[in-house]
Amino acid sequence: MDSSVRFWNRNAERYARRPIADQGAYAKKIALTQQYLSADMEVLEFGCGTGGTALQHAPKVRHYLATDVSDRMIEIAGRRSAEAAIANVDFRVASLDELYRQQQRFDAVLGLSILHLLRDPDAAIRQVFSLLKPGGVFISNTVCLRDTYPFLKPVAVLARLLRIAPFVKFLSRTELEASLEGAGFEIQHRWVPKTSKEVYFLIATKPGRRQQSDQVEG
Ligand SMILES: C[S@@+](CC[C@H](N)C(=O)[O-])C[C@H]1O[C@@H](n2cnc3c(N)ncnc32)[C@H](O)[C@@H]1O
Repeated sequence: MDSSVRFWNRNAERYARRPIADQGAYAKKIALTQQYLSADMEVLEFGCGTGGTALQHAPKVRHYLATDVSDRMIEIAGRRSAEAAIANVDFRVASLDELYRQQQRFDAVLGLSILHLLRDPDAAIRQVFSLLKPGGVFISNTVCLRDTYPFLKPVAVLARLLRIAPFVKFLSRTELEASLEGAGFEIQHRWVPKTSKEVYFLIATKPGRRQQSDQVEG
């Protein structure tokens, strides 16, 4: 099993119990995201963790597929989803690579607190671009430590060796934007929360006209 999967499986229960650090910033991100969601949309979230955000957004769209590489995270998310009785969300253990190889395409993709945890975020961004339908939207929330705490890099390396932290890539905001634009995205919205300057919240769209679906249920 991949060391990242082992790390997140080990830490899933603790992650589920952890309170949201900044409720105000979280609420703003939910509201900004929902400006781009609509009732006819097929949405994918990768790296969904224990599913809290998925359960907030699912009632706003037609179907929400929430995925994670950690089966422990998905187990907890499934439990929460059953408790919340939200019918249009599916939680599935899957990597972005696996999703990319499937035929399904989405109106929106969410990648929250995940790009900086990947060895090759550029490749992931290109895969997200391919997973989106024309006019689709990619909403991401990424920790950019190169801009804010570059001196923490040796600490991050040590923490990973001691297995108390996952792999973290020290990205910059400029690099992240270049990566999105290089893949073909147009950036629509940029936001750095006042209380956590290392966080970069971005909304980007794939060029093209979104086909409105007429299969809205309910
Ligand atoms: C920091 S947590 C973020 C969880 C959730 N998105 C949130 O904002 O609370 C990172 C999550 O990404 C998952 N993850 C790590 N590497 C992944 C990968 N290559 N593909 C998909 N998920 C991954 C982990 O299992 C973990 O649940």
